Amino acid sequence: ELIEEAFEELEKLEDSAEKEEIITILEDVKTNLSKVNEHGTRANGIVTSMLQHSRGGDGKMEPTDLNALLKEYVNLSFHGMRAGKNPINVDIDLQLEEGVGKVNLITEDFSRVIVNLCNNAFDAMREKTLQGSDSYQPKLTVRTKSEGNQVRIEVEDNGPGIPDEIKDKILQPFFTTKKGTEGTGLGLSITNDIIKAHGGTIEIQTNRNQGSPSEKTGTVFFISIPVN
Ligand SMILES: Nc1ncnc2c1ncn2[C@@H]1O[C@H](COP(=O)(O)OP(=O)(O)OP(=O)(O)O)[C@@H](O)[C@H]1O
Ligand SMILES: [Mg+2]
Repeated sequence: ELIEEAFEELEKLEDSAEKEEIITILEDVKTNLSKVNEHGTRANGIVTSMLQHSRGGDGKMEPTDLNALLKEYVNLSFHGMRAGKNPINVDIDLQLEEGVGKVNLITEDFSRVIVNLCNNAFDAMREKTLQGSDSYQPKLTVRTKSEGNQVRIEVEDNGPGIPDEIKDKILQPFFTTKKGTEGTGLGLSITNDIIKAHGGTIEIQTNRNQGSPSEKTGTVFFISIPVN
């Protein structure tokens, strides 16, 4: 605002070389300020995530209709992606086993897990879209299966897959391959912590293109949660 005021004051002055110079300097100050602002916003986002991350123990475990929760949050993530920057077309395939029933979950935490995994899948498939094969149709498949005293959730995308060199790092806090302000790298680390807090496990299976373009690529996140 001060800068805008300074500009207005300047307008009243007669044109001169000095005036031009002052304007150039003010323009510089203005861009720098907006950069400071951008990085401040990013830092704020990180801190907010960390606070949510560390907010321990106030969520309650409650018997939750897992299939209904998945439907709701896969949808939420999908519509968020469609309304956001660079939307892509995605087939969504929900293969939800009826018998899964109610599972003890901290609903607000577990809904974050679903959204994080779906958002990652959409980002990955967008990447693959940009690689430009016309026949590529992004597809997200979400499955539930009950297996003894465990329930299994699978989130599968047909994106580019995850390179071997980074596969072991993606669960670490702040690890991201996304540029600028696009990713904090906290998504999977938070996801992993939430699953552990439910007594569950997360496993990753991924397939990269090893040369032949016809090879299928993609990533599956397998989550197991105990039911009792
Ligand atoms: N389904 C996926 N396919 C390919 N790569 C993935 C997939 N999911 C995660 N990754 C890789 O793992 C990295 C870490 O993911 P994570 O969700 O922790 O952070 P992010 O998505 O980069 O940022 P944030 O979730 O904070 O917005 C990503 O940057 C990406 O490189
Ligand atoms: Mg993420």
